[in-house]
Amino acid sequence: MALLETKDLSINFGGLWAVNGVDFEINSGEVVGLIGPNGSGKTTFLNLISGIYPATRGTAIFNGEDITKAKPFEIYNKGIARTYQSSRLCWDLSVADNVMIGLYKNQKSSLTQAVFRPGKVNRELADNLQEAMDMLCYFNPDLVDHRYDLTKNIPHIDRRRIEISRALVGQPKILLLDEPTAGLNDDETMSMMRDIGKIKEKIQDICIIIIEHDMKVMKEVPERIFVFNAGEKIAEGTYDDVVHDADVIRAYLGGAKA
Ligand SMILES: Nc1ncnc2c1ncn2[C@@H]1O[C@H](COP(=O)(O)OP(=O)(O)OP(=O)(O)O)[C@@H](O)[C@H]1O
Ligand SMILES: [Mg+2]
Repeated sequence: MALLETKDLSINFGGLWAVNGVDFEINSGEVVGLIGPNGSGKTTFLNLISGIYPATRGTAIFNGEDITKAKPFEIYNKGIARTYQSSRLCWDLSVADNVMIGLYKNQKSSLTQAVFRPGKVNRELADNLQEAMDMLCYFNPDLVDHRYDLTKNIPHIDRRRIEISRALVGQPKILLLDEPTAGLNDDETMSMMRDIGKIKEKIQDICIIIIEHDMKVMKEVPERIFVFNAGEKIAEGTYDDVVHDADVIRAYLGGAKA
């Protein structure tokens, strides 16, 4: 059984089918890529499977459970975490606080305990801080020295690492990465590709769905690629399969669908 399977997943925004009839599946431990021209529905597809938008039609089954109508926090708690195309970090919080947000779902202490048993709460926060630092250190040890800096003062690539760390501390089964190399130069893109490899080394059975325009990344990182055009999935296969597919070439170069 696939870890995540969508059938006929679709959403209509005022007459526009942003995602239309998408059948998709990913198995435990797989890394898959989503490509497609601008506006082809890639981000909207991630928004559907992370519960940000309700589907107009179709289903999403995760780990045998229907999550089509689940709320974003419920889907996160079940094990699908994500990063965003434009950063969703809290700029005026420290690096450490941003990562610790990802541990909130595991927090056992209550507000009442914060008042009457502050020692217990402080111990839990200290454990969370350590866990957040271990994750950051795994991607870039220098970030640990900057743990109390405001996130707005951190370089762009490290902000991406903070977002990935925040997603990973919640121990997701699926990680959704929406254009993790956007805005990075060539060297930084190579570093980010190594970071994605390190995620797989650390958590071998994690699934990753990665949206990316950079075909270098798509050639190296995913095992399978799905291609979207005008909201529809037009091809699926290895990098070599999809770059030679006639519909894919037409979608990128323009012209009618075969
Ligand atoms: N909330 C919304 N309301 C109305 N239309 C939307 C909304 N979100 C997305 N769309 C439209 O849906 C289509 C798909 O957008 P989406 O952001 O998913 O594309 P994308 O493939 O991620 O593009 P890009 O590569 O530029 O990030 C676009 O036409 C977009 O304008
Ligand atoms: Mg997008």
